[in-house]
This record gives sequence, structure tokens and C-alpha cells, in this order.
Amino acid sequence: MKEKLEVGILGATGMVGAEYIRMLANHPWFKLKYVVAKRTVGMKFRDAKKGEWVTSYEPPSEINDLIVQAAEPEKQQADLFFSCLPTDAAKELEPLYAKILPTFSDASAYRMEPDVPLIIPEINPDHWSLIKEQTKRGWKGFLVTGPNCTSIGLNVTLKPLNDEFKIKKVVVSTMQAVSGAGFPGVPSMSILDNVIPYIKDEEEKVYIETQKILGKMEGNTIKPASMDIAAMCHRVPTIDGHMESVYIETEKRITPEEAAEALRSFKGIPQELKLPTAPENPIIVREEPDRPQTRLDRYAGSVPGMSVVVGRIRKGIDDHSLRYTLLSHNTIRGAAGNTILTVEMFYKEGWLKL
Ligand SMILES: NC(=O)c1ccc[n+]([C@@H]2O[C@H](COP(=O)([O-])OP(=O)(O)OC[C@H]3O[C@@H](n4cnc5c(N)ncnc54)[C@H](OP(=O)(O)O)[C@@H]3O)[C@@H](O)[C@H]2O)c1
Repeated sequence: MKEKLEVGILGATGMVGAEYIRMLANHPWFKLKYVVAKRTVGMKFRDAKKGEWVTSYEPPSEINDLIVQAAEPEKQQADLFFSCLPTDAAKELEPLYAKILPTFSDASAYRMEPDVPLIIPEINPDHWSLIKEQTKRGWKGFLVTGPNCTSIGLNVTLKPLNDEFKIKKVVVSTMQAVSGAGFPGVPSMSILDNVIPYIKDEEEKVYIETQKILGKMEGNTIKPASMDIAAMCHRVPTIDGHMESVYIETEKRITPEEAAEALRSFKGIPQELKLPTAPENPIIVREEPDRPQTRLDRYAGSVPGMSVVVGRIRKGIDDHSLRYTLLSHNTIRGAAGNTILTVEMFYKEGWLKL
């Protein structure tokens, strides 16, 4: 029996890759074996990340000394792979890995495939069972995806409110950090001193992904949630952390106090199992009138970047509506952290073996 599971990262030298490297460096269950990229193949990771490394974190030498490899699924033996590839590369490469071993992706390429789970571990862990459907593809492994970084923060807060008050309508306006566009992402001359009210395909993703995430397993398919959702997405000049201003309408009467209690007390399987990357509180509620704030709150909680911080909870237009603001770290809870937590849950629950 191996001491730790051996894992690889596809897209290790990018923005999300940087968070995987940091979070996997001292992970109690996983050991990083492969770093895969494209332009820097053959270089030591310490040199490959130069110029593209935008965090002050310095990986330990055993990671810095890894040689960057090209994607060669047949040759790369590991227990599982994380993928943070751009969409086109993910479309081509993820099925080749999933054919062989469990593959967990942050990319959008396969999120909406009917037999591919779209997981936030606290919200829809039961959707894991969709992977059994993938055996029909003749794969030995399987593919699990994580949602878009904007959908994740939103859905973490919608879940407890929907369970208790039954949401009919969601209107959300987002203020999204530049790291959400990868590296180098939005040109500095376009985003400094500016707000851009358009992020390609983002509003549609929030709508369709939310219906899948909050949908119910019925037999071996997901019945989508039926709530109406309208998203308005903006790119703003912050580095990390997506802010979202949310309005909901509910079937049951709702008060700000009841909503705050539902959000504050919400926990899921990761908290029950005390998984290494599980924050004590998936949602942190702030009472101050001027929180959450990006710089002050994006690393809040027991596992930095894994909690969604909610504030400004207040009445909507009547007793069946509510307004609030949320902040969620887009490359941690919105990508690498959410997916590492998903894999921890799969491992602990015995779902890695088909
Ligand atoms: N940024 C976020 O906040 C966020 C949140 C949620 C989900 N996502 C999703 O996560 C994925 C990665 O995002 P990112 O922001 O980290 O992008 P990024 O900074 O552009 O990084 C992309 C990575 O993929 C590698 N790559 C590209 N083509 C490849 C290929 N054919 N074979 C092997 N490696 C290849 C790149 O290596 P080279 O430089 O060598 O090409 C780089 O390491 C995207 O699908 C994105 O939509 C991002």
C-alpha cells in the first residue's frame, strides 16, 4: 500500500496550476508526480514558472525540480490527474486521460455532459454516482468536473437558502477579478482604471451550471433545478476574488435573520469527514455594513480561500425576497481548492474505484 496517492496536474504552469502547486505541496494524502504544460516541456518547474508565476509562494525543491512534461497519458502512470487546461486543450486531452484513470477538471469543456458530474463537495456530493454511467464509454477511469468560478460562490450560498426557502428566481451581478481570465489574461491597458461589462459565455455558464448543480439525481440522470436565473458579469481590476451582488425571490417567506442563520449553520460532507481542505465553515457571514471586501476577506476562514464570505444580507422588495453580497476566491474555492476537496471526498468515500 502506497503512503500517498500519486497525482499529476495538466496545466500546472498557469494561474490555477499555481494554486494546485501550493495546495498539493504538503498535502497529507497526495504526492505530486507530474507537472504537464505545453510551451515549457523539458524545463525544470522552477524555470518553467518564471515570468508566469504571480504568487509570492515558492514551492519546495522536490516540486521545483520536477521536469515539465507534455501530455502523454499512456506513459504517465499515476493514481489520478487534476486538469486545469484551457477549454480547447481540455476538450482534446481530458478524455484521453479519463479513459485510463480518474481525472478531475476545472475546465468547462465537459461540464454539461449528461454523464459527467459537476461537483461542489458540500452541495451535490450525490452526483458522484454519474461516473458509473461513464463505464458505458468503455473507460477504465472517469471524468469529474468542477463548476465555473462564478457559479461556485453563488451555488454555495444558494443551496442552504433553496433548501429552506425554495428559491424561484435569482438575479446576480458580478465583479470578477482579472485572474479569472488566466495568465496573462486581460491586457493591463484594458482593465486598469476600468470595468468591462462583458465576459464571454460567463452569464450562460452561471445559468446552465446552476440548474445542473442544484438539480436532483433521478435514477442515473440529473433533473435540472427549475429556478429562473439572470446573471450580469463584469471584469473589474482586482487580482483575486469574485464579488457577487445577489437578489433572490423565494416561495416561502424569508427574513434576513433567518437567511443569515441558514447560511451560517450550513455544513456538508467535507466538514463531517473533516477533510484536509474542508473549511470549518463553508460560508462566513459578516454583520458589518461594509463587508465582504476583496482585500480583507478573500482568504477568510480556517482554510484560506475556501470559505465564501457573505454580507449585506437585507430584505428585497417584499417578504419573499432577499439581497446579499458574496465574495469567493476564484482560483481556490473557484477552481483548485474545490477540486482538491472533491478528490479528498472521493478518496475518503471510496468513490475513486469504479
Ligand atoms: N482562473 C480562474 O479563476 C479559473 C477558475 C475556474 C476554472 N478555470 C478554468 O481552469 C482552466 C485553466 O485556467 P487558468 O486561468 O489557470 O489558465 P492559464 O493561466 O492560461 O493556464 C493554462 C495552463 O494550461 C497549459 N496548457 C495549455 N495548452 C496545453 C496543452 N495542449 N497541453 C498541456 N498543457 C497545456 C498551459 O501551459 P503553457 O503555458 O505551457 O501552454 C498552462 O499551464 C481553464 O479551463 C479555465 O477556464 C479558471
